[in-house]
Amino acid sequence: MDREKAKKRIEELRREIEYHNHRYYVLDDPVISDGEYDVLMSELQGLEGRHPGLISPNSPTQRVGAQPLEGFNTISHAVPMLSLANAMTVEEVIDFDRRVKKILNTGDVDYVMEVKIDGLAVELVYVNGEFKQGSTRGDGFVGEDITQNLRTIQSIPMRLIQTSDIPLPEHLEVRGEVYMGRKEFQALNKKREETGEPLFANPRNAASGSMRQLDPKITAGRKLNIFCYAPGRVSGIRLETHMEFLDNLKIWGFRINPFIKLCIHIDDIIDYYKYIKHIRDEIPYEIDGTVIKVNRLDYQELLGTVSRSPRWAIAFKFEAQEELTSVEAIEVSVGRTGALTPVAILKPVLIGGVEVSRATLHNEDEIQRKGIMIGDTVMVSRAGDVIPEVVRVVKEKRSGHEKPFSMPGRCPVCGEDVVRPPGEAIRRCVNINCPAQIKGSIEHFASKRAMDIDGLGTKLVEQLVDKKVIRDVSDLYYLKMEDLIGLERMADRSAKNIIDAIEASRRRPFGRFIYGLGIRHVGEHIAGLLAERFGNIHELIEADIEALLRIPEVGPEAANSIVSFFKDMRNRETIDRILAGGVTIEYGPTNKGKLDGTLFLFTGSLKSMSRDEARQKIEDLGGKTTNAISQKVTHLVAGEEAGSKLGKATRLGIKILSEEKFIETILKE
Ligand code: IVH
Repeated sequence: MDREKAKKRIEELRREIEYHNHRYYVLDDPVISDGEYDVLMSELQGLEGRHPGLISPNSPTQRVGAQPLEGFNTISHAVPMLSLANAMTVEEVIDFDRRVKKILNTGDVDYVMEVKIDGLAVELVYVNGEFKQGSTRGDGFVGEDITQNLRTIQSIPMRLIQTSDIPLPEHLEVRGEVYMGRKEFQALNKKREETGEPLFANPRNAASGSMRQLDPKITAGRKLNIFCYAPGRVSGIRLETHMEFLDNLKIWGFRINPFIKLCIHIDDIIDYYKYIKHIRDEIPYEIDGTVIKVNRLDYQELLGTVSRSPRWAIAFKFEAQEELTSVEAIEVSVGRTGALTPVAILKPVLIGGVEVSRATLHNEDEIQRKGIMIGDTVMVSRAGDVIPEVVRVVKEKRSGHEKPFSMPGRCPVCGEDVVRPPGEAIRRCVNINCPAQIKGSIEHFASKRAMDIDGLGTKLVEQLVDKKVIRDVSDLYYLKMEDLIGLERMADRSAKNIIDAIEASRRRPFGRFIYGLGIRHVGEHIAGLLAERFGNIHELIEADIEALLRIPEVGPEAANSIVSFFKDMRNRETIDRILAGGVTIEYGPTNKGKLDGTLFLFTGSLKSMSRDEARQKIEDLGGKTTNAISQKVTHLVAGEEAGSKLGKATRLGIKILSEEKFIETILKE
């Protein structure tokens, strides 16, 4: 292909890939498969490889391509990046509203409410619709040039979408918050814990640490995202309201947070704040409050700024999710993989209305890094459903009576040796017959998302193992009523219930069975993929590393762990005994669940979770999802601003669920 033709085709491919990036990363509504996307991408890479002169920094192929920097340059913000004044109480918000109305000399002011995302503020600069540079907030006047790291965030458009009705500004500065979702944060820390790297204290630090990497390849691997929420300098376009600005951002291709509400009355503000607080733990990223902004931009200008905060906006924050308390002791617990985890036993303290008396200390390196001693006064944080954590020590409060802690050289449960493999931060008990490991693995096997043996909880497993009634999971399938009666709090009726629950677990889908085995690095998702790929348990047992690595999401860690799990004869024997005990693994395309046979379609945006999460939930329950409307669709979930699919679904007589109804459906297990 000659250069001119190549140039034309490159442009076509870039436009097409940009369109699909927007559908996937911004709208969460892809219209092509990953395979089809890869085909477009490799054609573009091929052409650019043959015509390197045609590569531009904003090409979709360049998102992770940049070379590491020596250091960051600085960038001045044309309009200072201010911070927000805080309100903690309704009275303070009422005062804010009163002040605004007094200055404007009117009783008629609309506000826009948004969530306050707990991440890192950044500024993105676009010239004639092309991404030029991006920076951190810094001191508000001068920030650091993190352009190449921002390029790695796929939901940041490199070129803006041009439509006929809304012109593109010649110069556009957009501010937003780069953040890391809670799940992504936990996965990152888990990985770091295993490799002995220091942990990030919270998703905000993880996002900010990731954005300040000199090597953009590291940033690219960090699963960051962005919500855009404010203008900087904008020229070549006239705007009247903040809401209009947000609507335009959406049209130009930016990712906007779905929790936005126009509030006319102070009661609306308070109601929305309460609503957001109520659903806070269900939102997949951390927020620390709401932001109230005057909607009219001319009013914003009139109100102006005092002491580095605008007078037209205020953060209406949630109470801190952190409190001070003291460490009364440090205990070491042993998990099902033999990992020793130090746990701080705290003087009980209420954090955000929940009593906290234990907090994880992760591992010995973390204890050292934070300098935690027994008797210390510490700041403890709790967020969402995450295990509470000791954030830092208040060293000024030390009396001199604090005691240092060191990890035991022997397993606190069985007394055997513990080892700390090179390069890992975790000590493990080497005894695979350690009662703690046995108990943990039985509990995991019986858990709801694995074999789902109702009633077989911690207390019962503890007794069964301590009394040597069972030695591993396979023994469950040989249990008789007599074995149970006589255990603590075990009357005939409860024994019968347990036996019935075990009986009911004799038929389970392949994916759940694999997950139940508790293979390291094999969570529910990977277990599901293995079940899809391999015809039966015997094929999986025989699978080699190469076959496992052919599954796109299975990495070398998981592949190695799977192979060594099945190489161990004891594990094979356990599986044989489970099967001989009358367990039938259900193979087949669908995981039989309560949504078996259903086909879900989404329209509009969901408030409480991303589409990916919603899809995952449906698949976990045996249902399927699609992007296209057809007679085969059984349920349509209509989120906010539902699109044309809603009308079509009504005509086809498809069952339509609101977001609330959908959540009810998936929770009612
Ligand atoms: S508006 C003049 N909107 O909060 C204020 N900020 O203390 C312009 N933030 O630095 C910011 N979510 O990092 C705004 N929806 C939101 C926000 C938000 C989080 C952060 C941002 C800013 C800080 C202000």
